[in-house]
Amino acid sequence: MCGIVGYIGYKKASPILIQGLTRLEYRGYDSAGIAVMEQNKIEVKKDKGRVNNLYKLDGVEELKGTIGIAHTRWATHGKPSKENSHPHLDNDEQFAVVHNGIIENYNELKDDLIKEGYHFISQTDTEVVPNLINYYYKQDKQEDSLKLLRAVKNTCMKLKGSFALEIISSKEPENMIVVRKDSPLVIGKGHGENYIASDIPAILSYTKDFYFLNDYEFAYLSRDEVRFYDMELNEIKKSTKSIEWDSQGAEKGEFEHFMLKEIYEQPRAIRETIGTRLSNLKVSFDELNFTKEYLENINRIYIVACGTAMHAGIVSKNLFEKLCKIPVEVDIASEFRYRNPLIDEKTLTIYISQSGETADTIAALKLAKEKGAKTLAITNVIGSSITREADYSIYTHAGPEIAVASTKAYTSQVTILALIAIYCAEILERADMNKIEALKADLLKLPTKVDEILKDTTQIKKFAKKVYKEKDMFFLGRGVDYAVSLEGSLKLKEISYIHSEGYASGELKHGPIALIDTGVTVIATITDKELVEKSISNIQEVITRGAKILVITNQNIENKGFETIIKIPQISTEISPVLSIVPLQILAYYISKEKGLDVDKPRNLAKSVTVE
Ligand code: G6P
Repeated sequence: MCGIVGYIGYKKASPILIQGLTRLEYRGYDSAGIAVMEQNKIEVKKDKGRVNNLYKLDGVEELKGTIGIAHTRWATHGKPSKENSHPHLDNDEQFAVVHNGIIENYNELKDDLIKEGYHFISQTDTEVVPNLINYYYKQDKQEDSLKLLRAVKNTCMKLKGSFALEIISSKEPENMIVVRKDSPLVIGKGHGENYIASDIPAILSYTKDFYFLNDYEFAYLSRDEVRFYDMELNEIKKSTKSIEWDSQGAEKGEFEHFMLKEIYEQPRAIRETIGTRLSNLKVSFDELNFTKEYLENINRIYIVACGTAMHAGIVSKNLFEKLCKIPVEVDIASEFRYRNPLIDEKTLTIYISQSGETADTIAALKLAKEKGAKTLAITNVIGSSITREADYSIYTHAGPEIAVASTKAYTSQVTILALIAIYCAEILERADMNKIEALKADLLKLPTKVDEILKDTTQIKKFAKKVYKEKDMFFLGRGVDYAVSLEGSLKLKEISYIHSEGYASGELKHGPIALIDTGVTVIATITDKELVEKSISNIQEVITRGAKILVITNQNIENKGFETIIKIPQISTEISPVLSIVPLQILAYYISKEKGLDVDKPRNLAKSVTVE
């Protein structure tokens, strides 16, 4: 969840580090810090608060060093404070460490170190790391070029949990070591300089060539070289991958917030996600080699994810079942992994993760793999951890998503899932071909139709002004409209802090209707023409009890006492969430803005949840 950045080169490190952290602030923003090598001595500057505070800290401006590490924190162990901020030093101030992840056995390690005479200043799990390095460095009587690396390796062998670590040391002031296990870390290769970051966008303006580390691989960096080692400290070869994203994608440009920019990027994101997969109206996935025989033998599909990605999965369940006639279950990753799901070699499991780094989603994938199921990952980030675990990886091409509240990733995920469902259906030949053709034609129309919605948002803005002071809201729908209601509700609560619930319209009567009272806002989505009448009856039930209604629909519905009706373009019902979510995203955005909240960095949240 925390963000880390590193630089080793000939330029002044501190501005590069702080700028990189600013780009990573979506990963955590309760404290920040940097450590820079100043004439063979480590200088640490850190405090609680946002990254911008770093500029104000005494002595930051004066730092001249060209090697440094940096961190923006999302607190797990120990409250946000200067002491708990990273980087952390060992007792002799010879090793500085930043860490993303959780050291699960830190208490045990701390006790052992205390017995050896070490003391601790912070309440963090991380502080054991520099002290363990110190311990192993002192224990090692061999004096050779791998001494520091050995100490880091011995330390890592003791750690349980997850970690991405950057280490600098006054013992080797011209080098840096990085290593990861279950936490993201990339190395950007420059000329006479190298960059490190948790996520690609932080350093995309410096390089497009990246190295990706596997678990327990060590990178030993100097300005001109990166050497890689495995767990036994055998040198290994790695080559760079070139990333297509352009650095503008990670900038706000003329938009006030990343979220708004990303909402407006949706037509392009969807278009690029479809890419050539649907050219000449044929769906193809070079990444997949599914045969008819394999698909016919599948007993069940599990779609597993967290948050918004899980909501994209819910939308696609219906389509997979309808077109492929295979039962589909959608699971929350953190539940799936602990409920002993029924999986065998005949099960296909699909994981959706924008970042490709969500700890629970990756753990769920590993579990299914152990049980012999095929694993297919859908992610937005090339080289992300999930792609290194899955049997198959398919990329959405949404470009970097920076705002914590996910928007373009969701619409791209729903789009790609629809394409995968069609791809399987065409091989299986179990579905009505006319239906498939209609869906394919509609998928190609999505970008233009999203554009249409985005052209005029005045009605939604007006509605946001009316309701932004409310405490509770309800999002209702049936079928895919229920699925989109869940996502609309999540968007609202994430960034406006208004309590909201997404509910299946027909289920409201079984409890929640007790909460409907005069003036309560209910947002109903109606895009399934088969269910219009039933949905309207449910709305009437809440109108009678005094609710204020916003209807999002692509149907010709007579206004029977609704506050506002927002018309969206017609499209096949199964993929209509790609359109109907857009007004809901915009509504959440303007409500948050009206309330004067930090839209892109809502309280307590982090974009990438790399701890359980
Ligand atoms: C966090 C983010 C959500 C995201 C979820 C899953 O909770 O705030 O926006 O949907 O993680 O993330 P993933 O990267 O796996 O899609």
